Amino acid sequence: MLTVHTIRDATPGDWPAVWPFFHAITAAGETYTYPRDLTADQARDWWMLRAPGRTVVAVDEKTGEVLGSAKMNPNHMGGASHIASASFMVDPAHAGRGVGRALGEEALAWARAEGYRGMQFNAVVESNTRAVRLWKSLGFRILGTIPEGFRLPDGTYTGLHVMYREL
Ligand SMILES: CC(C)(COP(=O)(O)OP(=O)(O)OC[C@H]1O[C@@H](n2cnc3c(N)ncnc32)[C@H](O)[C@@H]1OP(=O)(O)O)[C@@H](O)C(=O)NCCC(=O)NCCS
Repeated sequence: MLTVHTIRDATPGDWPAVWPFFHAITAAGETYTYPRDLTADQARDWWMLRAPGRTVVAVDEKTGEVLGSAKMNPNHMGGASHIASASFMVDPAHAGRGVGRALGEEALAWARAEGYRGMQFNAVVESNTRAVRLWKSLGFRILGTIPEGFRLPDGTYTGLHVMYREL
């Protein structure tokens, strides 16, 4: 069943609701290249962006509960500043209900509206098949894969994809 949710710009007051699932996802160490032992303050500085970046939250339309969050930003500066990037986290308690797809579509719409010419994901963990499939369905392709570019918590290695789509 799809969760009825809406996406809006994040405010500083949203951070206490984002941190618990941000922490769960990064501490699990399976999907992000963030350090696994980030503090809440460090994580807030990395996640809650100001212009030219943007951070959004997906909230339950009825209760206002934060279900997921995304940040979007220029991937590089100078001559490559026309390529955007984005990162996504959905509360595991609300996964599989369309929130990630909606956040992905929001990031693409934002990047188009801001005049970016492409969106690049720098480090998509190959074993994160849910994310890889979702990004492919949103028009991204794998440009290349760093073999054994990511070490999983069990000590085994998996690839790290660079994914891209034109806008
Ligand atoms: C990856 C992530 C953002 C997806 O968000 P989500 O809200 O669970 O995704 P959605 O419900 O929108 O589902 C998107 C697709 O994922 C797939 N999917 C959903 N639930 C799934 C499950 N339990 N198992 C496998 N695939 C699943 C489906 O193919 C779905 O496609 P559909 O819309 O055609 O049905 C979310 O799981 C997450 O935050 N994961 C941890 C952090 C992470 O990996 N971030 C991305 C780093 S690149």
